[in-house]
Amino acid sequence: KRTVVLISGRGSNMTALIAAAGDPAYPAEIVGVISDRANAAGLGIAAARGIATKVITRADHASKDAHDAAIEAALVTFGAELVALAGYMRILGGRFVEKWKGRMVNIHPALLPAFKGLDTHARALRAGMRIHGCTVHFVTPDMDDGPIIAQAAVPVMIGDNEDTLAARVLKAEHRLYPLALGLVAEGKARMEGGHTVFAHFVD
Ligand code: GRF
Repeated sequence: KRTVVLISGRGSNMTALIAAAGDPAYPAEIVGVISDRANAAGLGIAAARGIATKVITRADHASKDAHDAAIEAALVTFGAELVALAGYMRILGGRFVEKWKGRMVNIHPALLPAFKGLDTHARALRAGMRIHGCTVHFVTPDMDDGPIIAQAAVPVMIGDNEDTLAARVLKAEHRLYPLALGLVAEGKARMEGGHTVFAHFVD
């Protein structure tokens, strides 16, 4: 499945998806990367791997709707069948989300539905969690709220700070995201009636 990755920054999850898609047997192909920030480090990484990149900033568009429409147009140009949000730090509008319903996924650095939003690692530490992790989910209009496709848990270690915990979760993200996108690209996980439906494995 032709997949476009949306980023805003570092792009380490994008890099993990590109690496997975380097295997011809992987069911998704990364055909483009779109960033809303011109200085996103991930843009250079994608370009170095021969992936087409496009910068579409909010500032260059008169309204949020016009920004979403520009992203939609770029996705059409790329021939995208799936969209993977990977550290994309903007909320996409309802119309856009509806159009990509069941075909757009996101990775969130917490075990949803706990710790939606930002600063998940600091909040998990403050809450005294002994387990933390990451989630890949289908994107729905409410932020970090869509049906869960896959999760990975990591232990919170005694003496962890935000950085050590974030690093442990990030490693798990890089394994989880290729796995989850693969399930969606193969049709083994799909969104139906607001839930994730998993294919049965018969043999
Ligand atoms: C990741 O922790 C991701 O879960 C969150 O933002 C971070 C992006 O990191 N949504 P990167 O750009 O993939 O390195």
